Amino acid sequence: MDICVIGAGYVGLVTSACLAYLGNHVTAVEASSERLGSLKKGIVPFFEPGLQEFVKETIESGFLTFTDSLEGAVKKADVIFIAVGTPSLPNGEPDLSQVMVVARAIGGALDGSKRRIIVNKSTVPVGSGNWVEMLVSQGVQNAQPVPARSARPESPSFTVVSNPEFLREGSAITDSFYPDRIVVGASDDNAVDVMKNLYKPIINQTFEPPSFAPRPAAFQTVPFVVTDLASAELIKYSANAFLAMKISFANEIAGLCEKVGADVRQVAQGIGLDYRIGKAFLNAGVGWGGSCFGKDVSALMQVAKEYSYPTSLLEATVSVNERQRLVVIKKLQEELKILKGRTVGLLGLSFKPDTDDLRDAPAITIAYQLLKMGASVKAFDPVANERCEQLHPNLEITYCDSALTLAQDCDAVVLVTEWALFRNLDWKGLSKVMRWPLVIDGRNVLSEQDVVDAGMTYRGIGH
Ligand code: UDX
Repeated sequence: MDICVIGAGYVGLVTSACLAYLGNHVTAVEASSERLGSLKKGIVPFFEPGLQEFVKETIESGFLTFTDSLEGAVKKADVIFIAVGTPSLPNGEPDLSQVMVVARAIGGALDGSKRRIIVNKSTVPVGSGNWVEMLVSQGVQNAQPVPARSARPESPSFTVVSNPEFLREGSAITDSFYPDRIVVGASDDNAVDVMKNLYKPIINQTFEPPSFAPRPAAFQTVPFVVTDLASAELIKYSANAFLAMKISFANEIAGLCEKVGADVRQVAQGIGLDYRIGKAFLNAGVGWGGSCFGKDVSALMQVAKEYSYPTSLLEATVSVNERQRLVVIKKLQEELKILKGRTVGLLGLSFKPDTDDLRDAPAITIAYQLLKMGASVKAFDPVANERCEQLHPNLEITYCDSALTLAQDCDAVVLVTEWALFRNLDWKGLSKVMRWPLVIDGRNVLSEQDVVDAGMTYRGIGH
């Protein structure tokens, strides 16, 4: 099929490359000339394991092209994906301005040559499927020449569907090829058939797995779930809200474990074996960050507020998470007494490993808090140092290029992001260069024994 994907960010670019790999002709539309420039050269302007090679391959195959001309791409397409950003506004609401501009522009580019499916891939508030339909229709109206009395131009026909994405950064390609489910919200059977056809190779797992994203063992066919528009949008939001709540639950229990001398890792294992609970997303630590959890939870709370509907679980999910980031500060105070004048080294800046994404990253909150308390802050992240320096120029952090230089003259080292690199550091070597031998394991991933054997003090979360 001829596909147009508007927005070549985390979601749009991965979706484009995957659909191109499956043999569709995909045109990705990117408005930012800088990003378009690098994409045309086959360069992916952000870190996502395997994506650089994958995009290059699909460009060379001729199935993936990039353009800034939305009109041309829309006219050619059978299916048009809206995959532009919907970042959070200061009041927590998603900023839908990009969706508005793009939806109207799509309307303006439609012609009567064929019926097209417009797919909401961007996370948009519940009930906005109809809103997108209204915007596209506005675009159609604005573009129509005033019809001569006789000829009534046949108005272009289209239908809007919702197709939320569930990609995790760091594993976006695998999550695209081997999803737990594909959700399509639509009120039109023809549109459902087109989407089912488009995703058939993934539903039936009939495609040849790409070299860097092998099919997981015993991976079966993928459920294709058809719902109404609003339910599909709510599935996206509530999935993320539930995952965020599950993590906040683990973090709340972690605090309790510390009070009663239990170990949250053992508690998580014990409850996670109950299939109704499941062991994933029960890792206590400095809490969740990223571009989705915070945004989606606050968007749900915003929608609820419009109906004065209380969302106590969502409120608690957020407040536990905000408190959790500062747990490492409390531990530093318990061990170092005062933080003023101390030097603290942060291992990791990105909100999770295998990404350079710093959106809502716990490390940033912790760094600002430490600086506010008069401490000096150093940081080492294998990928995100430069991006942090660009995005937070007034954050006075000393950026280091290794754990050893980070540890130099530090009174404490705090592991914030569990990069694989940090899991077996040479603690004896680090201990020699530190001013005070304190390690705070913000993700409970270090070997307490190794740290203690190096003559250091180890503090974890929830144990
Ligand atoms: C999330 C959802 O998982 C994905 O389905 C959705 O499409 C986008 O948002 P992502 O934000 O990329 O994906 O990362 P994820 O792996 O979900 O982690 C989110 C945050 O939770 C990270 O900060 C991570 O460190 C934290 N986390 C995760 C925990 O603190 N504990 C856990 O047990 C798991």
